[in-house]
Amino acid sequence: MSYSSIYAASVADPAAFWMEAAQLINWEQAPTRAGDAQPDGIWTWFPDGRLNTCHNAVDRHIAAGRGERTALIHDSAMTGRVTRYTYADIQREVAQVAGMIRAQGVDLGDRVIIYMPMVPEAVFAMLACARIGAVHSVVFGGFASHELAKRIDDAEPKLVLTASCGLEPGRTVAYKPLLDAAIALATHKVLYTVVLQRPELTASLEAGRDIEWSEACAAAEPADCVPVSSDHPLYILYTSGTTGIAKGVVHDNGGHAVAMAWSVPNIYGVGTDEVFWAGSDIGWAVGHSYIVYGPLIHGCTSVMYEGKPVGTPDAGAFWRVIRDHEVDVFFTAPTAIRAVKREDPEGLLLAEKGSGRLRALYLAGERADPDTLAWAETMLGVPVIDHWWQTELGWPALGTCIGLSDTRTRHGSAGRPIPGYSFAILDSEDKELAAGEIGDIVLSLPLPPGCFPTLWQRHAHFQDAYLSQHPGFYTTGDAGMVDDDGFVHVMSRIDDIINVAGHRLSTGAIEQIVSAHPAVAECAVIGANDVIKGMIPIGFIVLKAGVQVSDDEVSREVVARVRDELGPVAAFKSVHVVKALPKTRSGKTLRATIRAIANGEAVATPATIEDPAALEHIYQSVAETSKVEG
Ligand code: COA
Ligand code: AMP
Repeated sequence: MSYSSIYAASVADPAAFWMEAAQLINWEQAPTRAGDAQPDGIWTWFPDGRLNTCHNAVDRHIAAGRGERTALIHDSAMTGRVTRYTYADIQREVAQVAGMIRAQGVDLGDRVIIYMPMVPEAVFAMLACARIGAVHSVVFGGFASHELAKRIDDAEPKLVLTASCGLEPGRTVAYKPLLDAAIALATHKVLYTVVLQRPELTASLEAGRDIEWSEACAAAEPADCVPVSSDHPLYILYTSGTTGIAKGVVHDNGGHAVAMAWSVPNIYGVGTDEVFWAGSDIGWAVGHSYIVYGPLIHGCTSVMYEGKPVGTPDAGAFWRVIRDHEVDVFFTAPTAIRAVKREDPEGLLLAEKGSGRLRALYLAGERADPDTLAWAETMLGVPVIDHWWQTELGWPALGTCIGLSDTRTRHGSAGRPIPGYSFAILDSEDKELAAGEIGDIVLSLPLPPGCFPTLWQRHAHFQDAYLSQHPGFYTTGDAGMVDDDGFVHVMSRIDDIINVAGHRLSTGAIEQIVSAHPAVAECAVIGANDVIKGMIPIGFIVLKAGVQVSDDEVSREVVARVRDELGPVAAFKSVHVVKALPKTRSGKTLRATIRAIANGEAVATPATIEDPAALEHIYQSVAETSKVEG
């Protein structure tokens, strides 16, 4: 069946479509109906089904005689080590970690925070939580103590799992002191932490609270899979929201497992005897869905890579991994391809290493600019496919499904709707716009299985943030248009979210940290264009009258604060000290105007501006590049 007929079937009768897809997974108790509608239009998928996600990702493959099939290849460009795990190996490891977690008092529904680098034990930990019905929340290693503390307070974990260190080019990131600081900052009391000691750095452990991973695992009784109801939460993943408070996006077990099992073969076209590599981090949605759950539930081989696209050791790193592990389909962010292109524009390292059996490259996380797409297509000679999704959705909503023999792509567009998703472009009055007209990108309710049913502990905020703007629809937060052929073009955000190297950040959250500096009277943080990272945050600050510090000193301190509080992932390195910020007569900071000036665009003086001289300050400051490199 073609993409078009499958798409049509998915939207004509979603219940029938997803009940059939539900057969892709093993249920302890098969669902008798597809969904129950909630009053807000969100569905509980497969409400009377019971299953275990870890069983579906691990044990069932062994039961099917595929235990010796490679499940996970861990390739660390940082240590030079490659480790392969079969499904049987994973089952042993995960059962042991699950027993170890349970021995610390973690039970069904309890939360476990996983603050770990890209090591296989982090995957075992996620699956171990799923095995016993605990709810994991992975926190990306590039977030600092304050952000971790916020997540500890929101998720209220019984246990935190960590490692002694992460390995970044040129530095060893000691995770344990960052966790200790977060625990000290958090109001919620963390009773136990389990620390994986890596050979590169030994963390000091606090008696009575910190437990050594390998000893605790060795002492544990292996744990079996505990079936849970379909709507039982599998994980919480925090993502940037407009208020500066991270949103705890919840994904359930049943709908999620079905979406994972359906998407790997049907979108990416990966067979169970093939190798899929998502070049992301387990701290992001891509890592959850396409390093861990998607490939393993499907039963193929997943590659987990600790390293960078460039500098570890060079821009040939991707091609080495693809060749060495016979990767069939690769998924990364456009920023990574831009970094490779800059270092190796002629593709000499690619020619040297080859691209093995690579069949397709999927890109997501930010808009794939046509130059980067065209370069990758020419160099690799395989389809390069932009596709679009969000942490909230958990799996792609726009793209080209090579698994459904769809090959149509259009540069500048993230593709056509994936089966299960129904798009509309609306204006502020909820009127549907015609092809070519730009408006809010929304999705019809109910969202398909796998998408978030709520925000952790904040259902009212969930309704307010996503369902209230356009009644009957989920508001994505992106703006764009549909063209005459049904391709959706994602153009920009309608809020303060920016995309830095494929990472989603809120400028409002950065502004909160900057404005808390005692010398800062007011500030604006905007996302300026960057040739590699897509966007980078830049701060404009006005000092309080009479402060006795130099501009450079304040700028350095502000940069350090953002790094210390939010984390290095923010890539916040540029601050301009200006005399005033341009504002409207009603006192609203003209952020779009500041952004345009920072990007070197010609800007007409807004009619509503209160003090045109403030614009001059911005122009001058940008021109003088009174920039402080942090
Ligand atoms: N633990 C601790 N620190 C981390 C970290 C982790 N897990 N991951 C990143 N960081 C740090 C980096 O060391 C860097 O710190 P620095 O300012 O001291 O250099 C900072 O956070 C920013 O990291 P990152 O966003 O990875 O950028 P980078 O400058 O190291 O290089 C590129 C990134 C440009 C090579 C980019 O192409 C890339 O690969 N980005 C990641 C793409 C991605 O995975 N997106 C996820 C969605 S698919
Ligand atoms: P995240 O939740 O971190 O995955 O970020 C989701 C946001 O990233 C989306 O709402 C978009 O703003 C942006 N995004 C992701 N993929 C794409 C894409 N292919 N094209 C344009 N924007 C994208």
